[in-house]
Amino acid sequence: MTIQRTFSIIKPDAVKRNLEGKILSFLQEAKFNIVALKKMQFSKELAEKFYEVHKERPFYNDLCAFMSSGPVVSSVLEKENAILDYRTIMGATNPKDANCGTIRNLYAISIDENSVHGSDSEENARIEMNLIFAQSEILP
Ligand code: CMP
Repeated sequence: MTIQRTFSIIKPDAVKRNLEGKILSFLQEAKFNIVALKKMQFSKELAEKFYEVHKERPFYNDLCAFMSSGPVVSSVLEKENAILDYRTIMGATNPKDANCGTIRNLYAISIDENSVHGSDSEENARIEMNLIFAQSEILP
């Protein structure tokens, strides 16, 4: 398996509860190498663009309002099999279904306030990281 990169967001609900340090440490212990990192706030427009694939879903407006409601921590994570491995340690989208010991099992409040986002494919990882980071902000 080759080294892969994935894109991660620690969402407003987790940053509001000062969980970003704990979650980044969890990621490092799971052998993810952080190759880009920034604390930032999404504008409503950026959230709408980021989640454009969900435009037709009933939760789209609430999702965009929530994602732009406070600071987040965005990062690019590198390891072998990064995309699938990150989705495994995040746990299911709805924390009620998340396996024990996953990030969402430990920290998420609800399906909306579910603490973290992770890309679901190599193509989306590339699109998402390039939307949030300039090339110069990502380690080569
Ligand atoms: P995320 O992985 O960031 O991708 C889209 C987000 O929409 C998802 O996490 C959830 O927080 C949110 N969401 C709200 N309702 C739903 C739903 N019914 N199905 C999927 N995602 C949902």
